[in-house]
Amino acid sequence: MPNKPLTAIILGTGLGRLSEKIEQPLCIPYSSIPNFPVSTVDGHSGQLIFGKLGGKDIMAMDGRFHYYEGYSMKEVTYPIRVMYELGIKTLLVSNAAGGTNPSFRIGDIMVITDHINYMPENPLYGQNIPTGPRFPDMGEVYDPDLLELANTIAAEKKIKLKHGVYLATQGPTYETPAEYRMFAHWGADAVGMSTVPEVIVAHHCGIRCFGVSIITDLGVNGKIVKVTHEDVQKAANEAQPRMAALMEEIIRRS
Ligand code: HPA
Repeated sequence: MPNKPLTAIILGTGLGRLSEKIEQPLCIPYSSIPNFPVSTVDGHSGQLIFGKLGGKDIMAMDGRFHYYEGYSMKEVTYPIRVMYELGIKTLLVSNAAGGTNPSFRIGDIMVITDHINYMPENPLYGQNIPTGPRFPDMGEVYDPDLLELANTIAAEKKIKLKHGVYLATQGPTYETPAEYRMFAHWGADAVGMSTVPEVIVAHHCGIRCFGVSIITDLGVNGKIVKVTHEDVQKAANEAQPRMAALMEEIIRRS
């Protein structure tokens, strides 16, 4: 049996292959865990992996649940509740997102400094689970120490990082040009369909959070092209080695 991990990582689009680097893996299919939903989107399998990465004991979610698949917010964030019960203290998350910041390029890695919850429901809606207060402060959701560590590692490894605000929509539609414009106007640098529910629940559980988006397409006037899931996967795969190196080193040093 592996040791008890303190760090969890959600292997979103573009980080799936990091699972291959986990040493001494113990894989537990979601289908064998009570109350765990099972993920359906192409390119996402579904298992928890316990093992070693960056010299540390970790657990990884290989495949995540999206609200647009029809899961409730409780289901989407159930794995975070499990992480909390297992004693996880740090959560690393990755996703694919459309860039609304005109200075972004396809393939950029954006460290999430803050978010806008534009999903139709807050995952803490309903009776408060007393891992945190009824009305949680959201002033510093993305851990400043982890942000600084990421910057240090990126400088050492010559990985270019962008920083910005991630806005989460329900999906599954990508944005119209008018929506991209509106989100940019609201202060979003990137738009995606995940991460925010999990981070809200993790923050409420006192788990420190770090997230990165791979910019897989651009929602910027004059640069908008037709987006397909395949294009998103392709751009995410291209950024994968840089993302994996960054995440592994964050785990090693945090
Ligand atoms: N919008 C929303 N979600 C996304 C996008 C986008 O442009 N790209 C990848 N995921």
